[in-house]
Amino acid sequence: MNSKKDFDKPLLLDIGCGKNKLSRPGYKILGIDIWKNSDADLIIPANKLPFDNESVDVIHTRHFLEHFTYNETVDLFSEFFRVLKPKSKLEIIVPHVSCIAAFQDPTHKAFFTKRSFYKYQHTGFSVKNIEFFWFRNPYKGWFPFLVYPINKLLNTFHGLERFASIIGGIYELQCVMEKDQLELDFLHTPGAKLSN
Ligand SMILES: C[S@@+](CC[C@H](N)C(=O)[O-])C[C@H]1O[C@@H](n2cnc3c(N)ncnc32)[C@H](O)[C@@H]1O
Repeated sequence: MNSKKDFDKPLLLDIGCGKNKLSRPGYKILGIDIWKNSDADLIIPANKLPFDNESVDVIHTRHFLEHFTYNETVDLFSEFFRVLKPKSKLEIIVPHVSCIAAFQDPTHKAFFTKRSFYKYQHTGFSVKNIEFFWFRNPYKGWFPFLVYPINKLLNTFHGLERFASIIGGIYELQCVMEKDQLELDFLHTPGAKLSN
């Protein structure tokens, strides 16, 4: 829980925090979830955030967006765009399409590679950085001597993403997007759409 001294700190929302709410020094962190047994500070849906326009410094989502269709995520991003301050960051961590974890949960509706994130840029967020993690980040297992060099290799040569199945898949990828008014173009429709 946040204390009084957190008042002056930048506000970070961990959306869909579940039982794994982010901890990061220097931030006032509010967990948001619809699940009442989660660690959330606010039990509310992510598309109805009770915050003023441009009042939030960072939005973080981990293993959350894969539960939504493309159009649902576009709607979520418009709510994130509303509450975030200009130039602030939207941090996204999702399972990589090459990993069994992406498919073992039958409730997953979206699958991601590095290129997927560029399909959301018309919502007003530009892609700033993408990082691959062979195993869950931070890695706490027994063979860091193998994990860190492979992470380094993947992140030095992003083209290796397409060979990820050889190493049993990349577990997750992280994309940092930035709220950037220049990218805003809601009339743009990547993919196809039927008229009503
Ligand atoms: C797979 S869990 C991820 C939990 C945590 N972020 C983690 O990395 O372990 C997804 C979470 O999103 C929450 N969730 C699903 N739909 C939501 C919504 N519309 N608004 C807020 N939270 C939602 C679920 O209740 C669940 O706790």
